[in-house]
Amino acid sequence: MTLPTRRPPLYGDRYRGRVAVVTGASAGLGEQLCLDLVHAGATVVGLARNAQRLEPLSAVLRTVSPTSHTVVCDVADTEALRATLATVITRHGGIDLLINNAAQDPGVRLADITVDDFRRTFDVNFFAPVAATLAVLPSMRARGAGTIVNVSSDGGRLPSPGPGAYPASKAALSAFSESTAFRLAPLGIRVHVVYPAFMATELGLGALHRGLRRPPRLMIRRVETVSRIILARAGESSLEISASRLIDVAMVFRHLLPGAYRWGRKSW
Ligand SMILES: NC(=O)c1ccc[n+]([C@@H]2O[C@H](COP(=O)([O-])OP(=O)(O)OC[C@H]3O[C@@H](n4cnc5c(N)ncnc54)[C@H](OP(=O)(O)O)[C@@H]3O)[C@@H](O)[C@H]2O)c1
Repeated sequence: MTLPTRRPPLYGDRYRGRVAVVTGASAGLGEQLCLDLVHAGATVVGLARNAQRLEPLSAVLRTVSPTSHTVVCDVADTEALRATLATVITRHGGIDLLINNAAQDPGVRLADITVDDFRRTFDVNFFAPVAATLAVLPSMRARGAGTIVNVSSDGGRLPSPGPGAYPASKAALSAFSESTAFRLAPLGIRVHVVYPAFMATELGLGALHRGLRRPPRLMIRRVETVSRIILARAGESSLEISASRLIDVAMVFRHLLPGAYRWGRKSW
């Protein structure tokens, strides 16, 4: 793992003194978000399962912000996730920003996938963000403020050929985000759904190794770029945060010319 030495962009005082929880913090986008947030002045709590993989991030967090730390937590374990968030709320007086970023792709072919593979994928990618949202809502409502960022996937809105567990879980997360955003905006709580495009992380490269065609350059983003886009737009009024305009155009193409879209998409 390479921890950046370059300082991230400034976000004014938007994150200074705020408390942020990021799931899936030991690698990829989640790790980058933790680093950018702590350098922007936030108290950051990063969650992931693997203590060893969390250690380099922990060291940086401790150095920059003594109140920041990591917690070993499997987000699929609803009770453990709830308890972790309750502890953060008690210890830090609340959570200003929750980023539901942890995800898994079962990496099993359609011929071999089981219902349990679907359940496990939904536990991590859908039920964990739901549980985390429900856990932080009472304190966000009481304060009349808060931001929840759900990291979805373009696979959730433009599924590629495959067994469907990962895109289905992300489509469910997007729908959950949109529904709750309507209800929570009047209470001062912003919900965002993020479409990060393709990032060459463990998860992204895993999909390539399993046969996903390499996306065009305009659909490939660095984790640094996606983190910067998310943090620049979190808390604003728009629901969707998309890292690739080309994919937004593909969405329009799909709606206008569904037959042509599916013909082109089936070979991906
Ligand atoms: N990479 C892409 O091309 C791409 C494209 C679209 C959307 N996304 C989305 O972007 C987000 C970040 O993905 P990434 O590419 O940065 O993935 P990544 O590099 O593979 O990192 C995934 C992170 O999630 C953690 N994690 C996995 N299962 C967990 C669990 N049950 N409990 C707690 N933590 C768990 C992993 O840590 P541990 O193993 O230590 O738990 C790791 O820190 C995900 O929501 C993904 O779906 C990625």
